[in-house]
Amino acid sequence: MQNKKILIVEDESVTAEDLASKLSKMGYEVTGRVTSADGAFASIEGNRPDLVLMDILINGDRNGIEAASLIQDEWSIPVVYITALSDEKTLAEARATDPYGFIIKPYTPSELRSSIELALYKYDIESRLKKSEEKYRILVDGAVSAIFIVQDEVFRFANPATEFYTGYGSSELLGKSFRDIVHPDFREIINYNYGRLLNKPGQTMRFGFRIVDKNGKGLWIDFNGTSIEYEGRPAILGEAIDITEKKLAEETNERSLERLRKIINGIVNAISYTVETRDPYTAGHQKRVAELARLIAVEMDLPPDTAEGVYMAGIVHDIGKITVPSEILTKPGRLSDTEMSLIRIHSQVGHDILKGIDFPWPLAKIVLQHHERLDGSGYPHGLRGGEILLEARIISVSDVVEAMASHRPYRAAIGRETALEEIEKNRGVLYYEPAVDACLSLFRDKGFSF
Ligand SMILES: [Fe+2]
Repeated sequence: MQNKKILIVEDESVTAEDLASKLSKMGYEVTGRVTSADGAFASIEGNRPDLVLMDILINGDRNGIEAASLIQDEWSIPVVYITALSDEKTLAEARATDPYGFIIKPYTPSELRSSIELALYKYDIESRLKKSEEKYRILVDGAVSAIFIVQDEVFRFANPATEFYTGYGSSELLGKSFRDIVHPDFREIINYNYGRLLNKPGQTMRFGFRIVDKNGKGLWIDFNGTSIEYEGRPAILGEAIDITEKKLAEETNERSLERLRKIINGIVNAISYTVETRDPYTAGHQKRVAELARLIAVEMDLPPDTAEGVYMAGIVHDIGKITVPSEILTKPGRLSDTEMSLIRIHSQVGHDILKGIDFPWPLAKIVLQHHERLDGSGYPHGLRGGEILLEARIISVSDVVEAMASHRPYRAAIGRETALEEIEKNRGVLYYEPAVDACLSLFRDKGFSF
């Protein structure tokens, strides 16, 4: 380690010389021996010492106390007074300059040494503390987040970002109740969370809420609170960032999604309408199938999005009939095999019409499979069980029940009870069990009817 450098400010040359020789023997480097404040300043500028030993009575306009005070302020170099003076008034004045020590003449070499070492040690600790405080201050003051401490429901500390967010200056904020800036819609929940957080030391909570700034403007913030001890008592350390823009974007997004949903709905209904205009006997069929299928999905506890997809597919499931000649569609009496096969291609045609549209649900596939049956006896591909989309398995139940329960060109309505018996009889054979159970429950227990 390098020798510590010491400057001696002493007007008596004999004393100064003696001191310098003692210091050198102890291993210190004496950077200078001066007799006045101005001499000290010049010497410090030329060769910066680690410590100044300062006599209180020195030459020149300034005494040692004034010189010491300036040295500590300007150069931040620790000063130790070395004096024979013992009058209380002067010592009190000297003490007021926060010196790093006093050496009272006469002193022993060990007193000299320990005073110097203690002063250097104290200075070192203080500088480290200052550095860490500075680091902390830069972080907190420069943070984009609002950082604050709330104790006894009032702000006890707030960084500049908190002032920026709230519009209140630090003097207005300190002592202000945090409730004053919470948006009325959130006061209840914030009160509740405040109590919960305060009672659990070390606990952290994060949530978003609105505040109202000094000008009455609302802001959304993302708040992170930690229960801490501040000056020996419970408090909350809060950190918050402004998420107003994000919130607005989310709302806009939600509105766009809602609009998109309406558009899809409109398109699907328009598609549905095209086929029903050509086939008045099945008018309303798709809508009824869709509604029952949706309820079956709900009854099966499927997610709302799946239920909506089932409804959408139901609305257009027979769209492929648009290519079937209307004479066949409206023909009274039995259909020939050829006519029947013409009708049967409607699920493939429906699929082909819809496949190019990127719906949020697999509508084309559901439509393609709505005449498939669990045992593989359906068309067009003879798929079995799990090979058939869940939504298609639901629609097939709903489709059969609606078709049998209502009037057809070639026959009168078979009736609701017969329809329900048909799916009950073929439960697990042709029709998916949970969908059958849900459908029966809707009609028999929940009073559903078309
Ligand atoms: Fe069909």
